[in-house]
Amino acid sequence: MPVIVTHGLKGGAGTTFIAAHIAMALSEAGADVTVLTTTQRDTMPLHFGLQPAMSLPSLFAPAEDAVLAAGIDLRSLTTAPEDNDFVPALRDLGFLETGQDKVMVIDVPASEFAFARRVVPHASANVCVINAAPDTLALMPQVLDEASPENIASTSFVINALDETRRLSRHSSAFIRELVGARLLGRVRLDESVPEAIAMLQPLGKYAPSSAALADVKMIGAALVPALETPGRPWVARGSNPAASSHSSSSPSRAA
Ligand SMILES: Nc1ncnc2c1ncn2[C@@H]1O[C@H](COP(=O)(O)OP(=O)(O)O)[C@@H](O)[C@H]1O
Ligand SMILES: [Mg+2]
Repeated sequence: MPVIVTHGLKGGAGTTFIAAHIAMALSEAGADVTVLTTTQRDTMPLHFGLQPAMSLPSLFAPAEDAVLAAGIDLRSLTTAPEDNDFVPALRDLGFLETGQDKVMVIDVPASEFAFARRVVPHASANVCVINAAPDTLALMPQVLDEASPENIASTSFVINALDETRRLSRHSSAFIRELVGARLLGRVRLDESVPEAIAMLQPLGKYAPSSAALADVKMIGAALVPALETPGRPWVARGSNPAASSHSSSSPSRAA
């Protein structure tokens, strides 16, 4: 029962948007998916077309209190970042056992890097959402320096809100691709449909089924399906030169 963590380097990178759509893609691939949000100011329900006022039930609330959207069980645990018993609780709930058909996507806010560091070693994949922007690039060396080899091993990157009409965005994206190599899971284009769908209180798939960002984010989700086969351990091959790794070739790291 694998856990997938989504965590951005900076707030506003689009981590919650990506987390919601990874959950939808894994659910469409047949997985039984729970989404766990761990922040007070939570916008996760909006990506499922739910009302802004919707408050999600606790991870520990009984099944009859569940909020289901697109077949996905949406849960919240705002105390998780401070709770040293969070990982044991996940284990007790059966989320850290082997198996392929029960999946938890945990949306970790960018500021909670200590929490991410605790959970990622137990996750099948850590999806780090970044923008192709100079401020993000400036943070990358520090972030890569701080991460443990285990955390790096299970981390893959998604460039979100990429605007290829802008030279700086294009060049930043090329630089990220060079830096992270095969660990780049893919890129999602900047697309007005994403905030428009939220404004219309509709899921993106309903509001703009042929939108560019939806097509991109579906590919990201599909690329994570192999991570479900390797619960509880890193699915991206270890090594200082990931581009040279034969294991990681199974993950589509298409050009951004
Ligand atoms: N690919 C995209 N194109 C356009 N807008 C996007 C895209 N991804 C996210 N957004 C918008 O960016 C804002 C921040 O997204 P969010 O997922 O809440 O970021 P985070 O969780 O990293 O803070 C939201 O308004 C969202 O609609
Ligand atoms: Mg968020």
